[in-house]
Amino acid sequence: MCGIVGYTGSQQAAPILLDGLKKLEYRGYDSAGIAILNDGAIKVDKVSGRIANLCELTEEGKKCPGTIGIGHTRWATHGAPTDTNAHPHLSNDGRFAVVHNGIIENYICLREELIGKGYHFDSETDTEVIVHLIEMYYRGDLRRAVIKTSARLSGSYALGVICTDKPDTICVAREASPLILGVGAGENYFASDVTALVANTRNAIYLDDGEFAEITPDGVTVFDPAGQTITKKISRITWDIEAAEKGGYEHFMLKEIIEQPRAVKATITPRIKDGKIVLDEIEWSREYLESINKIVITACGSAYYAGCAAKYTIEKLCRIPVSVELASELRYSDPLIDEHTLLIVLSQSGETADTIAAMKECKSRGARTLAIVNVVGSTIAKLADDTLYTWAGPEIAVATTKGYTTQVCVLYLVAVYIARTLDKLEDADYYHHLSSMLTLPKKVQEALDMNPKIPKMAKKYHATKSMFFIGRNTDYAIALEGALKMKEISYIHAESYAAGELKHGTIALIEEHQPVIALCCNTALMEKTLSNIVEVKARGAEVLAVAFKGNQEILSQADDVIFIPKIDTLFSAVVEIVPMQILAYYVAKENGCDIDKPKNLAKSVTVE
Ligand code: M6R
Repeated sequence: MCGIVGYTGSQQAAPILLDGLKKLEYRGYDSAGIAILNDGAIKVDKVSGRIANLCELTEEGKKCPGTIGIGHTRWATHGAPTDTNAHPHLSNDGRFAVVHNGIIENYICLREELIGKGYHFDSETDTEVIVHLIEMYYRGDLRRAVIKTSARLSGSYALGVICTDKPDTICVAREASPLILGVGAGENYFASDVTALVANTRNAIYLDDGEFAEITPDGVTVFDPAGQTITKKISRITWDIEAAEKGGYEHFMLKEIIEQPRAVKATITPRIKDGKIVLDEIEWSREYLESINKIVITACGSAYYAGCAAKYTIEKLCRIPVSVELASELRYSDPLIDEHTLLIVLSQSGETADTIAAMKECKSRGARTLAIVNVVGSTIAKLADDTLYTWAGPEIAVATTKGYTTQVCVLYLVAVYIARTLDKLEDADYYHHLSSMLTLPKKVQEALDMNPKIPKMAKKYHATKSMFFIGRNTDYAIALEGALKMKEISYIHAESYAAGELKHGTIALIEEHQPVIALCCNTALMEKTLSNIVEVKARGAEVLAVAFKGNQEILSQADDVIFIPKIDTLFSAVVEIVPMQILAYYVAKENGCDIDKPKNLAKSVTVE
């Protein structure tokens, strides 16, 4: 999704903005631009395509003198990804420039109104109405004009505005899109994401919805919608720069796959203390947990699949019904949710628009909300009644890996915690589950180490047009995520099926050499999945099976086998998904795909 940055200080702004935009590349974009204010005039440079094109156009920013500016990476929604539609957008009088992340839902009527008043539009974007409204409302006070403009907008926005009358001031506004101020010494910044700030400052102010700020080299001042000054806490950014860089790996995705033992450890180990689960961040009494009659998990994409994988564990241990709902569906479903529902919201970014909307809908019906998010201070973390962070560190590749595994880990902790609080677990089982969870980092490491042959397997399977992923129960849930990984980065059509469903339709698609990835780690259902392998093999499929080390039976049935270390089925998703991630990575590499930034996708989906 779009990314925005801004700088005001004593250094040349353009190179700092370009650097910030590069850090936001992972969010996904198709054009980029900067606007620099210098000697009383605003100069805009913007191009479609990669930031490298903008760097070339501006000679790495050298051609753009000036110590204040704003920048943008655009992920096209309204209007094609052209130079003209790229941000920043200029007012007709050239006095204002705007960058915007979000969507203005009422832009059509605003556009008609502004055209009626004589404003002309250069682009097809929803954003352009903002800069013309600011020009229309401006009476010498930029802050007032931005506040008045914001009051006319429906939808979501994080805005950065510069004005030729205010040669050192940037005005910003936030509503339902992330916006963070970076506080420096003699220079200040804003960005849609901390990764664009950490190289310059670790002091951040997270704006809330409805807030505005003025940023000058000497300080930042935050205002409420009435224009009254408010005091905000300065938070310390703990992510280090190296964590947000590739560190010698060819792709962020590979680096993030390999970081999983550490991420899983950081997420689980501090929460198991002195032989019990300690979730310091949440306050659930036994009475509260007894009052819950169902758990609803909501999320999008891989986060949704993380919920699907953990549903089995929660239901098995807690004996509370769990339904896992796509946020984009739940928000419009008139859901049967009340104060007896515990809503668990999963999101790596904490900014996914559909997830936020579903969460608000369920909150308004009385559900208590637990957010499981990776980005500290994100919108979902702030909206939730309780938040548990996944300590995965920054995830840059669009395809999530450590984000998914750490979400599943937190759900495992929550499952065992609730079950124990409700006296559903005997001591022996409780301690057994704790030690199973504590072995997960080591098991994930073994899953990484045990499979040096996956790149070779990728060479065998990469040229196929489609792949089927099959499994039962927990294996099916993991197959869903395995197939998503494959399709999003390798562009191979990949679908997952509950293995028992094959003969109800899908098996008609199986023909000679059709790759079928069969997940066979659910010990109780292994024999059943083996029968499904036999069925597809009889129709010519080539089967690549995933099984526990030591499973001899599978060797005689499958064409290829990936082994993983044995682990209790209740907690297997975190380990079992690892070879699926590696397989997708190497298949995509064989196919020459842009692995970290797959086409048409964005890291943080901040629009509906
Ligand atoms: O930031 P979120 O976890 O809320 O993102 C949800 C999905 O957009 C995300 O998991 C997406 O499916 C990933 N690209 C999958 O790798």
